[in-house]
Amino acid sequence: MLHETRRFPPPAELAADANVKADAYDEAATDRLGFWERAADRLDWTQRWDTTLEWNPPFAKWFIGGKLNVAYNCVDRHVEAGRGDKIAYYWEGEPGDTREITYGDLLTEVSKAANALTELGVGKGDRVAIYMPMIPELPIAMLACARIGAIHSVVFGGFSADALRGRINDGTAKLVITADGGYRRGAPNALKPTVDEAVVDCPSIEKVLVVRRTGQEVDTHDRDVWWHEIVDRQSEVHKPEPHDAEDPLFILYTSGTTAKPKGILHTTGGYLTQVAWTHNAVFDLKPDTDVYWCSADIGWVTGHSYIVYGPLANGATSVMYEGTPDSPHRGRWWEVIQKYGVTIFYTAPTAIRTFMKWGQDIPAQFDLSSLRILGSVGEPINPEAYVWYREHIGGDRCPVVDTWWQTETGSIMISPLPGVAEGKPGAAMRPLPGITADVVDDQAVSVPNGGGGFLVIREPWPSMLRTIWGDDERYKDTYWSRFEGMYFPGDGAKRDEDGDLWLLGRVDDVMLVSGHNISTTEVESALVSHPKVAEAAVVGALDPVTGQAIVAFTILRGDVEGGDELVKELRDHVAKTLGPIAKPRQIHVVAELPKTRSGKIMRRLLRDIADNRSLGDVSTLTDSSVMQLIAAQLPTAKSED
Ligand code: WT7
Repeated sequence: MLHETRRFPPPAELAADANVKADAYDEAATDRLGFWERAADRLDWTQRWDTTLEWNPPFAKWFIGGKLNVAYNCVDRHVEAGRGDKIAYYWEGEPGDTREITYGDLLTEVSKAANALTELGVGKGDRVAIYMPMIPELPIAMLACARIGAIHSVVFGGFSADALRGRINDGTAKLVITADGGYRRGAPNALKPTVDEAVVDCPSIEKVLVVRRTGQEVDTHDRDVWWHEIVDRQSEVHKPEPHDAEDPLFILYTSGTTAKPKGILHTTGGYLTQVAWTHNAVFDLKPDTDVYWCSADIGWVTGHSYIVYGPLANGATSVMYEGTPDSPHRGRWWEVIQKYGVTIFYTAPTAIRTFMKWGQDIPAQFDLSSLRILGSVGEPINPEAYVWYREHIGGDRCPVVDTWWQTETGSIMISPLPGVAEGKPGAAMRPLPGITADVVDDQAVSVPNGGGGFLVIREPWPSMLRTIWGDDERYKDTYWSRFEGMYFPGDGAKRDEDGDLWLLGRVDDVMLVSGHNISTTEVESALVSHPKVAEAAVVGALDPVTGQAIVAFTILRGDVEGGDELVKELRDHVAKTLGPIAKPRQIHVVAELPKTRSGKIMRRLLRDIADNRSLGDVSTLTDSSVMQLIAAQLPTAKSED
């Protein structure tokens, strides 16, 4: 185990004025359902529920009998309370064009879009696929669906026509909402041609609604309708109908790394309750003074929950940015933080490690003094990346909250509360109040402090997935069959001597070396703790002696040169940090690592390289040339793509 002794207590003012304090843990432990009822009471219900939870394992229903409208909660109620002029989104286009959208503007736009959807024949329960760039019409489209009770299925704008087609057909969507394109890396990136290619084989699609963003040429078909032609002429008045707490809100596909994507189904009342509560608690949101920015794409669950539904339900002012972090220069994000005075920033470890590689001089050129809280999500954050983030972005004053959750959980499940916990680099700390997470061994027995095993959730939570769209059996098999009566997210974890949780990534990524379980995350963190390493990916390769042997791929920081000397230094460093058993058999210095489009390292492909196998399916890679690049750099590996 890594020995991490650095501790960062919460700033005194933050602790004194925190939205949620330590007593919330006791409150929820004493009466978990009562705790979630009070969280649900932060929303506006047209009819209060009569049963808080109905649990027929593994099927949960929350707030049964309750009725509410998600769009009303995210928009109308703030306008009715006199906050119509408050900014909901400062939107920043990649080329530098901007839009300011108030809650009043959102109400007008969402109402018109809802009327347009109705005119297009979309009604309650219908599925709407959304394939868009990061422009304001994306949250507007989602809220318009929520308003009328249509189920949105947002597909990340970087996915191929095949991926889009599969998701449209699985959900039998009636409508696709898209744009001509969006800006990425300094150029217009077309989306409409991908939709045209996809929908040729989508029999359920009746119309394609197209926002004009870039102005690039598009082919037009009978099924196409321009957003500005239909939405702009609609009435600005739309009455939100109440929906049942358990009516579906959205489907979001999660691919894992290999199998057919799973359509994760989320519903209305429980989802909104928990995203709003966690956004308020984990980011300590003060809606009158904070400027909040989550850098994720809305195509992922992070964007659904923490760019759209959580922040809007809480009446936050957010920044929304269209493009990539390096266009037109590598300080673009820090420039955005400086420009809008961002106070809360939420991003992913993969981005943090990229910035480490680019060097601390870049953020140092900007005024980041407005920041007060930093968040991380998506992967385990290595202690070194945590400390770099805290120092070079957070000015050594901002708490870092490492938030563990999944598409399936809907909201944050394990995270420190920034006004309560002492920060511990690399640890996600404790389950949030109301969440009963545990670490168990393969016999489902809770492990003691200092032990490791499988992460499980023991009791249902409001924003949990309800099923996999159209496939209850797969839902049961995937999440509920490993341990009787417990939700198994597929992640490994350890509980340290203080009882705090460390997430170790997918259990499929654990290596078995000479009979010892070693997590890839820990070896990666040990490598990244060396001052010359920016990023590392570790896999278990077949080994005749040890069963599996550790093979590492590393990216060096800034201008550091590789070579045998350095490789030896790194191997010794790992042995010193974790023990000789964890010393990698090989360390390859590479220029890039293969990642999924959401930034997760595809260890499966690196295992293929380490074992000298031909490469498996590379279609979910961000950049498939990365694999040729790595293979070409390594004398022993070959690639057949
Ligand atoms: C998987 C879920 C949650 C939004 C983004 C990803 C890994 C996520 C952490 C974290 C360690 C993490 C897990 C999880 N993960 N956050 N803070 N520490 N691992 O959503 O694509 O559904 O992926 O991401 O392995 O199961 P997702």
